Amino acid sequence: MKTARLGRAPGMGGIGITLAVAVVGFAAAARAHEHHGEGIPEGKFISDDPIDSILWTHILIQIVAWGILFPTGMVLGIIRSRWHVPVQTTGAVLAILAYFLGHAHKGRQFAPNMHAKFASAMMLVLLSQVGLGIYLKLHLERGFNGRIRPYIVKAHGIVGKIMPVLIWTQFVFGGFAALGFCFGDHTGQCLAHFIMGGAFIAYGVILTILLLVGQLWLRRTGRSQEFFDSLVIAAWGCVNTFTEHRWGGEWVGNDLQHTSMGVIWWCAGLVGIWLSRRRDGSPKRNLIPALVIILTGFGMSAHPQHLELSNHVHTMFGYTLMAAGFTRIIEISILLRDKGATTRDGSDPNSFQYLPPFLLYASGFLFMGATEEQMKLLSDAHVTHVSYILLLYSIAFVLFLFVNMLVHLYAVHAFPLGPVHKDADAAGVEANGGLAGNGHLRGDRRVRDAEEFELEGLISEDERAEDEDEDEEGKVRRNGAARA
Ligand code: HEM
Ligand code: HEM
Repeated sequence: MKTARLGRAPGMGGIGITLAVAVVGFAAAARAHEHHGEGIPEGKFISDDPIDSILWTHILIQIVAWGILFPTGMVLGIIRSRWHVPVQTTGAVLAILAYFLGHAHKGRQFAPNMHAKFASAMMLVLLSQVGLGIYLKLHLERGFNGRIRPYIVKAHGIVGKIMPVLIWTQFVFGGFAALGFCFGDHTGQCLAHFIMGGAFIAYGVILTILLLVGQLWLRRTGRSQEFFDSLVIAAWGCVNTFTEHRWGGEWVGNDLQHTSMGVIWWCAGLVGIWLSRRRDGSPKRNLIPALVIILTGFGMSAHPQHLELSNHVHTMFGYTLMAAGFTRIIEISILLRDKGATTRDGSDPNSFQYLPPFLLYASGFLFMGATEEQMKLLSDAHVTHVSYILLLYSIAFVLFLFVNMLVHLYAVHAFPLGPVHKDADAAGVEANGGLAGNGHLRGDRRVRDAEEFELEGLISEDERAEDEDEDEEGKVRRNGAARA
């Protein structure tokens, strides 16, 4: 057993050395990189040069590391997979490499930008995750270490789950920097489009997660989905009611429209909260959030635009958002007849139920892709609205696929018995249920994995420390099972 642990030591040492080199390197790179501002024309925020191959490599590697590996690794961490550490280590090494490439680029030059500023914070978060991760991996589980370990796991877990949001932001900042967009006068409009568009996508992601793996959790809260939706809508409405207009000043531009949008959100949100309970206090579904989505789509697509292209994109955005609302109404009223889900634990949803979340992703990308600067760039390049809208829909499909894959990765471990069983609490009891469509071997392994997973979840940290031998044995068995 000891040897097994020692056997892992060189790997950990390797990470440690990489880490130390990285810290020293970061400082040096930050100092070496002071070529900002050269060759940038007056009134613009990038030079006329093309992006060079070093920066392209930076972008590609960061997309792989932060966009694909870290989110996948996050799910692997949550399900305690033995692949968590290898995946996150690979991601970290790539991210550090690409960090240096970001500093080393020639070619296009950039004005001081949020992406460059935010980058150090991102790397600090990453290094602290790696640091905590190494600590956890060393399995120091006795005495003081044993007492603080649960808190370290918590902290590592919370930061890990916040990371996708930070990554999203840094990617968006990267896009702004690359094109020199959203500076000066354009900042406000960019904020509006990217925050709102991002919110639609986040809403879509949350609905996807709740649809596929969140039903049992929802039941435990004793509230309906619409209670939470309406609460957020009402809160957001309050904020927008007071922040979209400089109170005391003139009503300018689209002020009034934005403010009225805020007003309708909290008005409707309150109704949605009220209608989310039956007389006896049990949770009840309602159509208010769907209605709010429809009205929002109508309101936002009707803003007057300067360019023909912009009109088309905004119209399509409005249709897509309204479609999200209408399909939601059909789902709740006609398909589910006010039930929470098709099955008790929400496994095997009706195919129609994927529509509302997906349309939210699509409307989010359409809205994020409809700022004045983007419209002008495309219009000048003679890109038609058809190709552009299809491109944005493609991006929505890719993200939708990725989120579905991640949720699946989680689901096959958390609910390993497949669609037939009724309640995950009964996991292990209805073992036969999962075999139906899966073939015997696969089902068998899933059941075995499930039992081991359940055990893992039930063992407290103390018991684990006292009974290390058995734990180690469990690991070997689990690894064997995963390899099989
Ligand atoms: C190479 C660096 C890393 C190592 C060695 C490492 C190690 C670990 C270990 C050993 C656990 C299991 C903790 C336990 O159950 O006792 C864990 C959990 C976890 N890790 Fe990492 N990790 C690393 C990087 C990351 C990164 C970069 C993220 C961010 C996406 C992350 C996210 C998570 C999450 C979300 C959990 C689950 C925690 C929970 O369920 O509350 N890890 N990690
Ligand atoms: C989360 C992942 C990423 C991190 C941590 C990161 C980090 C960095 C760093 C440290 C720099 C050098 C900043 C400086 O000049 O001081 C940089 C530059 C740059 N990155 Fe990223 N990057 C990431 C992802 C991306 C993506 C996805 C894009 C693509 C759109 C991108 C586009 C750029 C551009 C255009 C620059 C040049 C900006 C400049 O020199 O000021 N980055 N990045």
